[in-house]
Amino acid sequence: MFSPTKKLDVEKDIEEINNELVKLKDNAPYDEEIVNLIDEVIETGGKRIRPLITLLCYEMFSNKKRNNTIFAAACAIEIIHNASLLIDDVFDKDIFRRKKKSFYLKFSTFSAISMSYSLSSLAFGLALKTKLLEIVEELTKATQNLAVSLFLEQKFRNATTKMTKEEALLLIDRKTTTLFEAASVIGVLLDQATQEDREKMKEFGKYFGRAFQLRDDLLSIIATEEEIGKTGVITDIKNRIQSYIILVAMEQAVEEDKKKLEDYYIEKKEFDVEEIRFLIKRSGAVSTVVKLVNEYIERAMSILKSYPESIARNKLIEITRFLSLNL
Ligand code: IPE
Ligand code: IPE
Ligand code: MG
Repeated sequence: MFSPTKKLDVEKDIEEINNELVKLKDNAPYDEEIVNLIDEVIETGGKRIRPLITLLCYEMFSNKKRNNTIFAAACAIEIIHNASLLIDDVFDKDIFRRKKKSFYLKFSTFSAISMSYSLSSLAFGLALKTKLLEIVEELTKATQNLAVSLFLEQKFRNATTKMTKEEALLLIDRKTTTLFEAASVIGVLLDQATQEDREKMKEFGKYFGRAFQLRDDLLSIIATEEEIGKTGVITDIKNRIQSYIILVAMEQAVEEDKKKLEDYYIEKKEFDVEEIRFLIKRSGAVSTVVKLVNEYIERAMSILKSYPESIARNKLIEITRFLSLNL
């Protein structure tokens, strides 16, 4: 129910991406021990939504067939994403990722950090293979934003004041939107698209990315762990993360509930996690965020619809539509 690529006509595309990802280890400039760990990360799967966007954006603008260059670019994006998840689970103390034990728990925190480092450099090696400076630049920008997001996230967690919704959105842009922007524009950079097309597709990535993260934060409040295959459900609240939906809840809750939410998130007083979850739901924040997610989806969709019909464009529309929430 919550998987955006389920039941879409993209299984073959994902299979192709997975085949390319599996091949990466053959040329990885690392010792066997590290190569085996790279394999571990890649084999945990994932929806592969970012490389899928890169491939489809490429096909929307190019008459050429998929080639090694586009796959190198698409894999680079997915590898950076995987590197960021290894660190994210350490920070969030999450137990499961992709329905499996988190990497740092299966191996060690030391291995997770080292592996994230190895994967990042592997990704830049792939980007260099495209021989396109703009692609390397986009990947660099996204990785820098991810790095900044870790510091921002720390600030949010240690905050003894209420964060603003603008700050929460900034964090979303740094940690999530940035990779979706890169995934979209990198596909376009491989062909003769105009500057206007590049800007429009980056904008598509921005709206898609914001909708994606807001939706993920929302599901961590209302869905079960089985439904989303990871432990964010409990840990987002346990970690007292003042995500966008929490800030909306504090804004909209009745006085008594608002006080409890502030006591929990700002004063760091002890509360039962389930009680906090209940208060968030009672505030009406869920429907406010659903509306916002759907607004971003509409904006992303209208960019896609401004282009002529094609198989790739229609697949992108379907993937984007699948993010919409009807709760
Ligand atoms: C998880 O991303 C991190 C967020 C930005 C919410 P995905 O939901 O794309 O994770 P995988 O790759 O499919 O596991
Ligand atoms: C997403 O953060 C991870 C990055 C973009 C680095 P979250 O903590 O919100 O996502 P999940 O719930 O762990 O996948
Ligand atoms: Mg996390």
